[in-house]
Amino acid sequence: MDAAAAASAVPALAEVLRACVLGGASVSFMPPFPIEEARAFWRRMAKQVAMGERILLGAYADGALVGTVTVDLGLPPNQPHHGAVQKLLVHPHGRRRGLARALMRRAEQEALAAGRTLLTLDTARGSAAEALYRDENWTEVGVIPHFAMNPDGSWCDTVIFYKHLAS
Ligand SMILES: CC(C)(COP(=O)(O)OP(=O)(O)OC[C@H]1O[C@@H](n2cnc3c(N)ncnc32)[C@H](O)[C@@H]1OP(=O)(O)O)[C@@H](O)C(=O)NCCC(=O)NCCS
Repeated sequence: MDAAAAASAVPALAEVLRACVLGGASVSFMPPFPIEEARAFWRRMAKQVAMGERILLGAYADGALVGTVTVDLGLPPNQPHHGAVQKLLVHPHGRRRGLARALMRRAEQEALAAGRTLLTLDTARGSAAEALYRDENWTEVGVIPHFAMNPDGSWCDTVIFYKHLAS
């Protein structure tokens, strides 16, 4: 998405993020997670897209946005080759159709086009996303126990992954 597309997608992105949190995903936010809080988050992301500091992708089904992933490019000056993959999200109604895999593959292409040859991410241990990253040949660095909370308040371990992209 370019800056205009990102700004106009904020309401739909907020719905996807909120549905994931209320569905139990450990993705930064906790219930009740009002929709305005989700929109404020995506407005910040859209501003970063406008500044060229973030790649934002959308996945669509029947014309509606049902998934997203972002790559943070606004990293320190000594990491010009590095992008941080964040917020891979697919609405519960759109899952198991290959959208997340397609989003991740496109994110790698776009990151490479932006000159990023190292990608990093972290994800909840035992999550569907962890299985996807392993299947997509990401390398595990390690696990941080009790890194964050699940939406139900229980502790969630995180697994850190990286991937070097062939240029
Ligand atoms: C993780 C998530 C993005 C996957 O989205 P999706 O579009 O359903 O995923 P895909 O259909 O592309 O599946 C790709 C692979 O992921 C794995 N996967 C997806 N859902 C899975 C599940 N429920 N259980 C186990 N593995 C799963 C499988 O390896 C799958 O490949 P396969 O279909 O060939 O078996 C989605 O479940 C989601 O949004 N979860 C909540 C948010 C979240 O945790 N995001 C990750 C933040 S790091």
